[in-house]
Amino acid sequence: MTVKPDFSKHANQAATAPAFLSVWDMHSYYGESYIVQGISFNVHEGEIVALLGRNGAGKTTTLRSIARLDNPQVNHGEIWLDHQPLHNMKSYEAAVAGLGLVPEDRRIIPGLTVEENLKLAQIQPPIGWSIQRLYELFPRLGERRNQEGVTLSGGEQQMLSIARALARDIKLLLLDEPYEGLAPVIVDEIEKTLRLIKEQGMTTILVEQNAVRALQLADRAIILDTGTIAFDGSAAEVLENESLRAEYLAI
Ligand SMILES: Nc1ncnc2c1ncn2[C@@H]1O[C@H](COP(=O)(O)OP(=O)(O)OP(=O)(O)O)[C@@H](O)[C@H]1O
Ligand SMILES: [Mg+2]
Repeated sequence: MTVKPDFSKHANQAATAPAFLSVWDMHSYYGESYIVQGISFNVHEGEIVALLGRNGAGKTTTLRSIARLDNPQVNHGEIWLDHQPLHNMKSYEAAVAGLGLVPEDRRIIPGLTVEENLKLAQIQPPIGWSIQRLYELFPRLGERRNQEGVTLSGGEQQMLSIARALARDIKLLLLDEPYEGLAPVIVDEIEKTLRLIKEQGMTTILVEQNAVRALQLADRAIILDTGTIAFDGSAAEVLENESLRAEYLAI
């Protein structure tokens, strides 16, 4: 059932325009460890938001919390995606509701080809992006469609991992360090593809250690500092603000 959210408590938001993703006062724990300490933010449809912060700031934990994975436990707060409440859902329900998490370790399924990895992700009948459309977006995957997924290069595996998320009918793409360990030329290629995905209307949260690259792509930036939000504003503002970069991003 879809319930219309009550956004009256979102102080920083016009009551007439609920955001596409709305996270309100979210608190997350790993056992006794209190990690995400009451964060609230909005993401608008079609936006790319860079989620930044030093190592251990809570970026991955925030993505996992939104994706409703078992660990961490979110014990307070609300998460709304396109008018659907995610905060009481299991991870598979959140996935059906339109959430696509691309985890840091990529999780390519061994023993399956590129195409089998994509087909397995597709809901039947396919309502996400077609395999053909995915190969247009990632020509390298099309060329290697019959190769076992785990034998792809790191960059190609990252592309497969993103393509696999798109093969489902997702509304929100959550990327955890997609550029990690990749050569600059491959980062260029993935960045170009992320721009094309945005042009097709996708909403994305991008977690990246490579903050400058992420800020060049993003519309907006949210900076986390020990589980709280230290900054929420335009990406250009972070690029221009030296003291902000030095204090929270060490760049
Ligand atoms: N499974 C876990 N159990 C206990 N503590 C955890 C677990 N995973 C992460 N943490 C802790 O939660 C805090 C936030 O971790 P998180 O992975 O969200 O940070 P991050 O911002 O993604 O960092 P990085 O940039 O290094 O990826 C860290 O102190 C980390 O040690
Ligand atoms: Mg992380």
